[in-house]
Parts: sequence; structure tokens; C-alpha cells
Amino acid sequence: MKQTFLSLALLLAATTLQAQPRQETELSDDWQFSRDRESWQTVSVPHDWAIGGPFDKQWDLQVVRIEQNGEREATEKSGRSGALPWIGEGHYRRTFTIPQGFSGHAELVFDGAMAEPVVSVNGQRAGYWPYGYNSFSVDATPYIKAGENLLEVDLNNLEESSRWYPGAGIYRPVKLVLTGRNFLHPWRTFVYTKQIGQDQATLAVELTTELPSQGDLAVEVELRDAQGQVVDQQHVAVTDREARAQLTVDQPRLWTPETPYLYNARIRLMQNGRTIDEIMQRVGVRTVRVSREGGFQLNGQTRKLRGVCLHHDLGPLGAAVSKAALIRQIKTMKAMGCDAIRTAHNMPSQWQMELCDSLGMMVMAESFDMWVYPKCKNGYARFFREWSDRDVEQLVRAHRNHPSIVMWSIGNEIPEQGMQGGTDMARRLQDICHRFDPTRPVTQGMDRAESALKTGFAQVMDVPGFNYRVHKYKKNIGQLPQGFLLGSETASTVSSRGVYQFPVVAEAADDAKSNLHRLHYNGQCSGYDVQYCSWSNLPDDDWRWQDDYPWVIGEFVWTGYDYLGEPSPYDEYWPSRSSYFGICDLAGLPKDRYFLYRSHWNTSEHTIHLLPHWSWGTAKRQKGNRIGQVTPVYCYTDYPEAELFVNGKSQGRVKKKSDESSTENNDNRLDRYRLRWNDVLYEPGELRVVVYDAEGRTAGEQTLRTAGEPAALHADVWTQDDRGTLRADGLDLAFVTVSLTDADGTLVPDATDRLRFEVEGAGTFRAVCNGDATSLEPFTQPTMQLFSGQLVVVVQAARQPGALTLNIVDEQRGLTLKRVIEVR
Ligand code: GAL
Repeated sequence: MKQTFLSLALLLAATTLQAQPRQETELSDDWQFSRDRESWQTVSVPHDWAIGGPFDKQWDLQVVRIEQNGEREATEKSGRSGALPWIGEGHYRRTFTIPQGFSGHAELVFDGAMAEPVVSVNGQRAGYWPYGYNSFSVDATPYIKAGENLLEVDLNNLEESSRWYPGAGIYRPVKLVLTGRNFLHPWRTFVYTKQIGQDQATLAVELTTELPSQGDLAVEVELRDAQGQVVDQQHVAVTDREARAQLTVDQPRLWTPETPYLYNARIRLMQNGRTIDEIMQRVGVRTVRVSREGGFQLNGQTRKLRGVCLHHDLGPLGAAVSKAALIRQIKTMKAMGCDAIRTAHNMPSQWQMELCDSLGMMVMAESFDMWVYPKCKNGYARFFREWSDRDVEQLVRAHRNHPSIVMWSIGNEIPEQGMQGGTDMARRLQDICHRFDPTRPVTQGMDRAESALKTGFAQVMDVPGFNYRVHKYKKNIGQLPQGFLLGSETASTVSSRGVYQFPVVAEAADDAKSNLHRLHYNGQCSGYDVQYCSWSNLPDDDWRWQDDYPWVIGEFVWTGYDYLGEPSPYDEYWPSRSSYFGICDLAGLPKDRYFLYRSHWNTSEHTIHLLPHWSWGTAKRQKGNRIGQVTPVYCYTDYPEAELFVNGKSQGRVKKKSDESSTENNDNRLDRYRLRWNDVLYEPGELRVVVYDAEGRTAGEQTLRTAGEPAALHADVWTQDDRGTLRADGLDLAFVTVSLTDADGTLVPDATDRLRFEVEGAGTFRAVCNGDATSLEPFTQPTMQLFSGQLVVVVQAARQPGALTLNIVDEQRGLTLKRVIEVR
């Protein structure tokens, strides 16, 4: 009798065990946060504790010699990692609930925490992962109890551990996943395109289960198209914890950046005919190949990567990841004609990759900025030996199902490229990528071509990536068995939005003899897009190689957006605290350079963009007066020819030049991709350009006018739905670009008025940024000065629908503007 009862109990236990449905809970609200474990505040995750400032040069003040930049002496680098208070400890805690009678598996999944997270559950240490950029999970099963449980995360950021602003805190999502004892794991499930034929594609699904089979264990995979129609369905047995299925897709819709079509796979784990776990996986049908003959091919089509490098910070939001902010980034880059992102120099967030999948953006997912040889005192080199294999494995496992990812990168400018043993390390890391993902090529960015080619380091890579030094490409290719190379990092041109420096000279801006150093050393770079760093070059220099040599398979421009930290060429100038490399500034506003790239990369829309602004003084307005002075005018356009007029007087018709007249460093090299009038004398009024197509027909025009007195505020609202409304989810963000204009709506380009912001109703003020790399005004206070006449205010939706009202006040001039944003 006793025995029967026992087996009945066991049977019941087994049934509950099997029936435990997967339950995923985002742990976003109600975290308690403290820097000292004494005073606590309530925060939501994703959270960056340092982004509110205050800015101070004492935070992470680095007195260092930057080897990569060819420096010989250590000097003070005040804004190198953003001049924000990210150093030190941070502590987070919150509770979570485990249902009564739960007997399954509990896992805490972190998409990244900065840095060195130690995770405890109910006071017991449950997990640790040193690299702040990687995702990791903690098996909480042994530490949990029914009812309320305490989760604690302790973080520590060391000084001199980064070359840029890393952010601080639980800056990416955390979730609690409850399943039965045997379950599927997205990181142990791999879905990929095996082959694309004439009318049919074959997909493979490979997975391992947590536990070996007890009874009859099987996996059922059902693939549906975007409309929900079943495309294929397979039922396969699990043997030794492994299952493999093959799916067929007739007339497949292929994933490309232009057509980011996604299918959905429902994967079910079945025991004795009953579902014991289920996960959903989005699937893109696409193949990637690199070869001597075809270069880089997506779905068998050769294309050159038109990529940008991005650091992970989101300007005034810091490292705290936000879907709305990422959508804005990706859409803005796509509209420029960009089709790829390199996640410099670390693992991306899941949200970013999901959005790259759905919006159509290829990705080079990177891992490290250093291996064993440190680039900064307390960087990842401390962990490399013990952790690098696990870190690379985790990068690949966590992200390999994203169709957007087209290659892995095992490093950036790794000093070992010229050292003994470096080649073996490269091979080992590349092999790890291959082991967990045989479908994608592996690359890394090398900055010392000679050394890397001499040691054989470059030759072992699937894709040899070179950072800068385009003039060495030709020599490099001769020594590469691969037969092609990638511009893994290009340009590093520097500029500030709306700032123009005279005379206009193409120059290495970090050279002490440059005009920038001698004449304009004020924390800004010129918007004429002619300044670069001694190790780098101008966009035009890259394009000559991209366009003329089929074996150059594309480029990743440094960078798509300005980022916090690394203010070259003002590394030693306080208060510079963010970069000048961006095609867009830190607020996400396009600099002129955006239109230069757009004119070359966006082949489906025309570009006509004049610069500089045409408000260099009037008889009445003397500030910055250039009347009668040489003020060069550039037009960035895809058209080959144009005529410029100042107040109706022709300044001549200019045609793009072939490359023959240009050499590496002469100025003519700028005439292949830009239309330039170098001798224009400024007079106030109207600047007009008329462009002509290849047949000489008039194709369009653009006019700039001299601004009158500041008279009005303007606000452009960007939201992810492109319709100016927000979702009532407590997370959605609107980015409001505020401009000061004259009575006719012409931007006042030198306006620096201080504005104030009030938000009422269905949302809150989140941040503000003007793109000025020298501004020390905190992003999180609702007031800021305009920079070059503009700034961006970020407001956040409430959870309740309603109207969000943003009031913008310019007290100095008595101007106000009210914008109402619908939250629904
Ligand atoms: C590269 C480096 C980047 C950034 C850039 C600035 O050498 O890979 O991280 O420092 O220079 O030009």
C-alpha cells in the first residue's frame, strides 16, 4: 500500500514537472540601487547610473600614452572615457516570485551588466561573468524558494578599464525564465539556412536539450511565414540530448537589408506526445559567402558592405539600451544608404540585433578590443586567458540565430597581430566561432598590416580586415591568399555639426602644425569634412579603393554616431568629452558628412546638400561677419555637375573629376565625390545650386538663405511609428529636434540660447543633448543651450494613454513652443 502511494506521488511529481509551462518575466521595474549599500533609490532596468553626471575631468582621469595613436609620451587624457562617474561599485536588488509548488528550472538571463557582475539569490552567490558586454545566465534553481526571493547584483568598474565610455550598471534587460526540468534553450538551438536553390531553400535546426530523454522525447518544429501560414513542419526524435531537423521552404522570401523578410519557427519539446517546452525563433532565409571570385555575397549576390562602426552608448541615454533609440539609429543610417553595422568593439545587445533583423541591417558582431596585451591598465586583458573562449562561445551562441549577423569579429587592433603566438590565438578564437557557427566568416580589424602579414596573423582569417591605411591595401592584397580584404574600419574623419573653420584645408587635425591646432583650438572640428587623424583619412580616400578595386569588399566607417569618450583630436583638451568622428552627432542629428555618404551610398534617392550655412553676417548683424571673404561652398550630391549662384550671380559650373588628376594627398582627390567652389566671396542673401544629370539636363536645386533675427522655435517630433505618436508602454521615446529660426523659418546657425523644458501629462522628460562635445551641461536636467541653433529633447511615454505636452521655453527671447504628443 505504502509503495503504491509513493509511486503515485512520484507520478504526480513527474506530471507537474512535465507540465510546467515556460514563463518568462522581464525584471525591469522596482529595482533598488545604491552606490554605497546605504542609501537606496528605486530605478528601472535598463539603467545607467553614470549618465546623469555631473561631468568632471577627475572621473577616470587617465595620464597615458596611447600606443595605437603613435604617441611617445604619456599626457593627461581628461575626457577619454566620457568624464562621467562610472568608476566604482554599484549595487542592485529586487525581489521576484516563485509560484507555490514550483519544481522546475529557474534561470536568470542577463543581456549584460557593467561590469564584473556578481549575482546572488537569497544571499547565496549564484553567478558571475566578468565581461560587462556579454550576455550570461545564472542557474538560480538551487537557491530559490516558493514565494518571495531576493536577487542582488553587485557591480564594480575599475578606473582605466576602457578607451571610451562603457556605461555603468544593469544597462541591458534581465529576465527570469521558469521552465520544467527538461527544456529548450535559445542559446542551444541553432536555426540556419543550409542552402538556397532555384525555387527552394533548406533550413537546418540543431538543438540540445537540458536533460537526456526520459521516455520518448521528440522535437517538433513548425515554420510559418510572416502571414502565419505553415510553411513546413517536422517531427524528429531526440537522441542523446540532440535533435536535428531539416525544413524546406518553397519559393522562399529571402532576407536582405532591403527586404528583411522573417519567418517564425515554433520549436516544441515533446515527451510521450505532450509538449513540455516551447520556444519561438525568428528566422531569416539567407546565405553569406566570401570568396576570391565573388567577394562578399549575400544570397549569392556580390555587394560591398556600406557599413558604420558604432559604440554601444546612445548619447544622452548613455549605455541604457532603448528600442526606440536603436530604431532611430538604424532607420537614420538606412536612409543614408548604410547597410551594415559593426558593433565596435564588443558584443551587441539582443534588442539591437532583433531590430537589425526586422529593419534590415547587416551586422559584424565584435567581441574584444584587447586580448592578453593590455591597451589600458585594467581592461579586458585581465580576464582574457581565463574567459576569452567562453566569451566567444557565448557571443556566437547567443546571437547566431540573427540573420542580420553576417560575420563575427574576434578583435580590434589587437597588439598580438605583431607578436609571437598571436597567430595561434587568432586561429583558436576563429575556430571557436566556426565550431558554434560554421555558416559565417570570421574577421578582425588589423591596424598594423606589415606585422600582421609578416607573422601570418592576417592570412589565417576568413576575412582579413584592415583598419585605415588605404594606401597599403595594394601591397596587402599581394600577400593575402584570401584574394580580398575588408576596410574593417575607415575614415575617422572629424567634424562638429554646423561649425566651419577657415581657411578650408584638408589636414590631419591631430598634427600640432595643423590649422586646427594653430588657429582654432577650441574643442570643435570643421564641418567641411576635411579633417582627419594622422592614422586615418577622408571618406573620399576610402571610396577610391572601394569603387576601383573589386577585391575590396566594403567598409565600416568610424563612426555612424558620435559617442561618449575618445575626443580625438582633443584628447588633451578639457572640456572635450565625446567624439567628433560621427556622421551624426551625439544627439543623433546629421552632420554635413551624412549627406556626403548619402550622395554616394543611397542609390535609390537623390541627394542635393549645400554647405556651409549662409549666415556669415549682414550689414546689421556683425557677429562672425565674413562679407567679402573667401567662403568655400561644397555641394554633396549624386549628380555629376552643378552651377552655383550667389544672389543670382553664377559662381561657375563644376563637374566631378575622374580620379586621374588625384594622388594620395593632393587636394584634387576631393573633386571626384564632391562639387566644390573654393573661391566664393560671401555676401548675405541667397545661395542657390542647380544640379545637372549625366545628360546635362537640369535635375534639381537647393537654396540657402541668410538668417534674419531669431524669431521662432521649431520642433520636429520623431517617434518609432513615424507618425509622431508614442506607445503607452512606459518605455517608448520621442526625439524632438528643436531649432531656433528667423521669421521665415531659416535656421539661426550660431544660436546658443538656453532653453528650458516642461513635460506634463502622459509622460516624462528623459534627456536632452545638443551635440556639443565640450558641453558640461548634464543630459538629465530639463535645460540646455542650443548648439549651432539646435538640440534634441527626449521624452518618455507613460504606461497610461493620454496626451504628453512638451513646453519649450526660451526665456532670453520670450519665446515658447508647445508640442502635444499622443500616447496610446
Ligand atoms: C581606431 C580604433 C577605434 C578608435 C579609432 C579612432 O584605431 O580601432 O577604437 O580608437 O581608431 O580613430
